[in-house]
Order: sequence, then structure tokens, then C-alpha cells
Amino acid sequence: MGDKILVIHGPNLNLLGTREVKIYGKTTLKDIHHLLNREGKKSGFGLEFFQSNHEGEIVDAIGAARKTFKGILINPAAYTHTSIAIRDALLASGLPVAEVHLSNIYNREEFRHHSMTAPACIGQVTGFGKESYVLGLAGLVGYIKASKGKSKRKKA
Ligand code: DQA
Repeated sequence: MGDKILVIHGPNLNLLGTREVKIYGKTTLKDIHHLLNREGKKSGFGLEFFQSNHEGEIVDAIGAARKTFKGILINPAAYTHTSIAIRDALLASGLPVAEVHLSNIYNREEFRHHSMTAPACIGQVTGFGKESYVLGLAGLVGYIKASKGKSKRKKA
């Protein structure tokens, strides 16, 4: 089986499509999964999806990811702004992580301007709607492929 990436969605993202449509649009989580699976196939990565409204469950999923996955694509949703536990879990995983947001967290309320989790990530994509996920995945895949090249070169 090929390399795999874990895609994690935080709280309330299960409601996409009907939730605050003016901000998040009509795209559903299912649509996003469809789009990502297509992109994943193109780049040779399999994707697994996990959504939870519970911080501890997200921490557990990250903790278990190391053995199975080469990287994590995450929209921590509201936990972005509050969760030291998720940030610590991401750092502990040792995996490359890309953070994505549908909305631009920097042009919304001030409490959204700070990300607790972004410092544990290789990069962040924010504000492009569902395309944030596609761009985040592309960045993550590029990073994983480049690091593979590096580790091969080291061994030689
Ligand atoms: C979000 C932005 C967060 O501030 C918010 O709490 C969300 C969604 C986004 O994708 O734009 O739930 O992560």
C-alpha cells in the first residue's frame, strides 16, 4: 500500500454546507473529501479522514498517527485558537503537518487571529474556502516528497 496522509477536521466542521453559509459556503465535508481524494490520487497518496467535536479524540488520533501516516492535514477549527493539547500532540507526533482554514482567520474577529497550532506546522493556508485544503495538501505532499529525497541522499 502507498503512503498515507491523515486529514483531521475539528469541531462543527461536520456541519459544513449548512453552517454559517455566508462565511463557510455550501461545500460539505463530503465534497471536500471527494476533492482531496482526487488530488491525493494524482500525487500518489492515500487519504484517511477523521472529524471530531472533542479535543481529546483529536489528541488521540494524532497520537496514533505516527505509525501509519506520513503527514497530517488539519483544520483544527475553533481549537486552533485555544488548544495547547492539540499543538503538543502535533509536535509529539514528529510528523509534518499543514494547517488549513476555509475562512481567512486574520480578517475576522480578533480572537481568531492567533493560532496555537500553527507553530507546530510546516505551514498554514487560510481563506481560500475548499481550495485551502487542496493547497495545504499540495504543500504537505511536496514537503514529504522533498524530505524523502533528502533521507535517501543521506543514506547513499
Ligand atoms: C475555521 C476558522 C475557525 O476560527 C473557526 O472556529 C472554525 C473554522 C475555518 O476553517 O475557517 O470552526 O477553522
